[in-house]
Amino acid sequence: MIKKAKIEVKSLNKIFGSKQVLKNVSFILEQQEHLVIIGSSGAGKSMLVKCILGLENISSGSIFFDGNLISENSDKQKVLNKLGVCFQSNALFDSYNVWENIAFKSLFNDSYPDIFNLKKLAVERLEEVGLPTNIAEQYPSELSGGMQKRVGIARSIFSEPDILIFDEPTTGLDPIMSKKIISLIGKIIKNSKKTAITITHDINLALFLASKIILIDNGKVEWSGTPKQAMLSKNKLLKIFLNG
Ligand SMILES: Nc1ncnc2c1ncn2[C@@H]1O[C@H](COP(=O)(O)OP(=O)(O)OP(=O)(O)O)[C@@H](O)[C@H]1O
Ligand SMILES: [Mg+2]
Repeated sequence: MIKKAKIEVKSLNKIFGSKQVLKNVSFILEQQEHLVIIGSSGAGKSMLVKCILGLENISSGSIFFDGNLISENSDKQKVLNKLGVCFQSNALFDSYNVWENIAFKSLFNDSYPDIFNLKKLAVERLEEVGLPTNIAEQYPSELSGGMQKRVGIARSIFSEPDILIFDEPTTGLDPIMSKKIISLIGKIIKNSKKTAITITHDINLALFLASKIILIDNGKVEWSGTPKQAMLSKNKLLKIFLNG
């Protein structure tokens, strides 16, 4: 039997009016691989992930999950249920407390949510991301940036998704908190044996956590390879990234 890739992106293009923000992007991600996407601001990293999530329609090309073609007519909810996402802005809901934010998907999608059980599960997730459980009833505005990131990560792992996606998980954090978040993500990916995609400017995160790196520049895949290959590469832009 031919092994199917967990995610395959083929010749993906995304065009807004006269502006092409993704140009012929292709990559394959096997089960349990961790892809790290690096690139300058505005390169198209978040857009690529939004296309994979089905939050943006693609202009041309194809995306496969487990060998199945995802199209505009696919059941978006079914696709999203496979994915756990931690957005660049954390995207926490101000008017919901911490545990409600963590359990959000089940709390508002299930027909008859079991509130008691969802809260218990959300509190377990708080522990998993190293936060004190007594913040469960607090609101996002009462938390520090680092704590909000962890709540965002707790939400992304809440319903044990197939694929984890983290957009800029360390941006805006101090170096110590960044290190803690990197090791937390490393632990989550290792323990859960999940397939993951992380977008970052943090080259240490890329070298430490990735099984595969792609460098996006101006909407195109400029370079791709393993962290080891990255260290040896002569690619000029990649070298700039590696040298911070
Ligand atoms: N809805 C939209 N309409 C038109 N252009 C858009 C839209 N969303 C994003 N873009 C453009 O797509 C390009 C890529 O944006 P994207 O958010 O993917 O960048 P990024 O690589 O994630 O950058 P950063 O590191 O700053 O987060 C940018 O030029 C942006 O202006
Ligand atoms: Mg972005």
